[in-house]
Amino acid sequence: MRNDPFFRTYSPRQEAMSRVSQSQQEAMTRPASTGTVSELMDQYIVREEPYYRTVADEVELYEAAYSVRMPMMLKGPTGCGKTRFVEYMAWKLKKPLITVACNEDMTASDLVGRYLLDANGTRWQDGPLAVAARHGAICYLDEVVEARQDTIVVIHPLTDARRQLPLEKKGELVEAHPDFQIVISYNPGYQSLMKDLKQSTKQRFGGLDFNYPEHEVEAEIVAHESGVSIDVAKNLVHIGERARNLKGHGLDEGLSTRMLIYAGSLITKGVAPLAACRVALVRPITDDPDMRDALDSAVTTYF
Ligand SMILES: Nc1ncnc2c1ncn2[C@@H]1O[C@H](COP(=O)(O)OP(=O)(O)O)[C@@H](O)[C@H]1O
Ligand SMILES: [Mg+2]
Repeated sequence: MRNDPFFRTYSPRQEAMSRVSQSQQEAMTRPASTGTVSELMDQYIVREEPYYRTVADEVELYEAAYSVRMPMMLKGPTGCGKTRFVEYMAWKLKKPLITVACNEDMTASDLVGRYLLDANGTRWQDGPLAVAARHGAICYLDEVVEARQDTIVVIHPLTDARRQLPLEKKGELVEAHPDFQIVISYNPGYQSLMKDLKQSTKQRFGGLDFNYPEHEVEAEIVAHESGVSIDVAKNLVHIGERARNLKGHGLDEGLSTRMLIYAGSLITKGVAPLAACRVALVRPITDDPDMRDALDSAVTTYF
C-alpha cells in the first residue's frame, strides 16, 4: 500500500522538512565524500518486494529505459498502478526512490533546496530533487500536472544530455549521479488546458501507458490487495467496468482499481458488500442522484 512505512514520501509544503530529523538534515548538507551518503540513501531503499502484477511488457521497457537513464513519464488514470509500478521498479533495480507528491503550492525551492536559518546562521538544505540527483536515486514526481509550470521547468537541465541541476541561490551546479533518473506520472484525461505539461517538458520523456488491467488480472490484484475471494473480486471488477462505461456519460472518471480494493477491504472487515460498495465505490465518485441510483443498481446486480 502507498503508506507502507518503507516508502518515504516528500510532501513539499506539508512540513516535509520539519519531519526530517536534525541529523538527517545535517547529513543532507554534508559533502558527498563523508561516508554518510549511504546512510542518507538508506531510508529511500525499498526493502521488501512490493506486490506488482505485470500487465504487459512495462517491466522490460522500463528496465531498458533505466539502462540509458531515459526520463520516464507514466501516463494513465488515477488508481491504476503507476505509483506501485515505480516502487516495484526501484526495488527490482535496487535503487533508492524519492517520491514527491506535486501540488500547486509547490515552488522550485521545494524541489531544489533553500537556505534555512538556525542558531548558527544560515545553512543550505538540499530539496528532494537535489538529494536524488546528488546521491543517485530515482526521483518520482507524482501527479506532475498539479505543479505549476514555472516549478516544473527546474527539472529541464536534468532531463537532457547535461544531467545537471543548477542550485542558483547557492551558486552550485550539481552533476547528476550516474544512477539518477527522473520519473513523472500524470493523468491525461484529467488535465485542463491550464494544467497540461508544456511540449518542451513532454518531449524530454519516454512514455509508458497505464490503464485498468483486463478483467482477470484486475480481479487477481483486487483479491490480493484486499483479501476477498477471487469470486467477490470478479464481482467488484464487473461493477468497476460498468461504471467505466459511464465515463463521459455523466461520470468524469471511471472507478479505479484503488477504489475496488477499498471496497474489497471493507468486505474483508465484515462490512456487507452492498454497504461496502456504496461507501467505497458509489458515493465518492458522484453527487448526481440519477447517476448514484444507476451505480447502486449495478451493485445490486452483482451482490
Ligand atoms: N498492476 C498492479 N499490481 C499490483 N497492484 C496494483 C496494480 N495496479 C493497481 N494496483 C493496486 O492499486 C492501488 C492503486 O495504485 P497506484 O499505483 O497507487 O495508482 P496510481 O499511482 O496510478 O494512481 C495500489 O495501491 C495497488 O494496491
Ligand atoms: Mg500515484
